[in-house]
Amino acid sequence: VAKIRLGILGATGMAGRSAVIHEENLKQKGQSYASLELVTGSPQSQGKNLGEVFKEKERDLSTRYSFWNQRSCPESYSQMKVHGLDAEKISKKVDYVISALPSAVAKEIEPKLRERGVNVFSNASEFRWKNDIPLIMPEVNPDQIKRVNEQSTKGVQVNNPNCTTAGFTPVLKALERFGLEKVNITTFQAISGKGDKVSGSEYASNIKGNVVDDWKRETIQWRGEEVRA
Ligand SMILES: NC(=O)c1ccc[n+]([C@@H]2O[C@H](COP(=O)([O-])OP(=O)(O)OC[C@H]3O[C@@H](n4cnc5c(N)ncnc54)[C@H](OP(=O)(O)O)[C@@H]3O)[C@@H](O)[C@H]2O)c1
Repeated sequence: VAKIRLGILGATGMAGRSAVIHEENLKQKGQSYASLELVTGSPQSQGKNLGEVFKEKERDLSTRYSFWNQRSCPESYSQMKVHGLDAEKISKKVDYVISALPSAVAKEIEPKLRERGVNVFSNASEFRWKNDIPLIMPEVNPDQIKRVNEQSTKGVQVNNPNCTTAGFTPVLKALERFGLEKVNITTFQAISGKGDKVSGSEYASNIKGNVVDDWKRETIQWRGEEVRA
């Protein structure tokens, strides 16, 4: 089977780097359906090698946070050149993109790519509330993919829901057949949900010491039992 030609937009960011690692994992497992042909970043990263930017970003995070588990760029992609967001050029190189761009940037480029025949899988929130763009969780509502037929562009788009929804809906789906009636949900966002901005001083200065250690240390008594604060 011929592999699809894939691009990762925002490949240098927090979510994009995860997508790059995911592609490598699929390859290692012999489940790769795509050939990664293009990676993009902001003007700051353009022209550099993906491996170089990857290393800088992960190093910044581990400098700020002692608990950060530094990730490495897969060897096979580390020499890829980071490109900019030129819809015309992208559409010549790839047929599909995974978009891990900030919403404001996704808003501009994703429609241009669809018009040029590129199929877009987006992590960005920008088009999540558009009726003809389905939010797909493969474990939950794969049948909704048919709704891309309502789209009038040459390329089509599906989005994923926000990360908390993506986490709990497969569990609810599995429980559905037992007659689930009501669910109370409280969600907490990890700081990594803010992307690489967490390597800036704003977040680090709000966290004293090592969060993991503090979490273990700070316990309180509640109804006679020791619980974590
Ligand atoms: N972090 C998460 O856990 C998470 C989970 C689910 C969904 N998302 C969504 O995924 C998207 C990316 O989030 P993130 O956390 O990965 O953010 P991030 O770490 O800030 O990464 C943003 C990416 O977009 C690129 N970029 C920024 N401005 C650009 C511009 N003007 N032109 C071209 N490229 C630009 C960045 O390039 P540089 O590296 O060169 O700056 C980087 O590759 C967001 O829409 C977010 O809501 C994030």
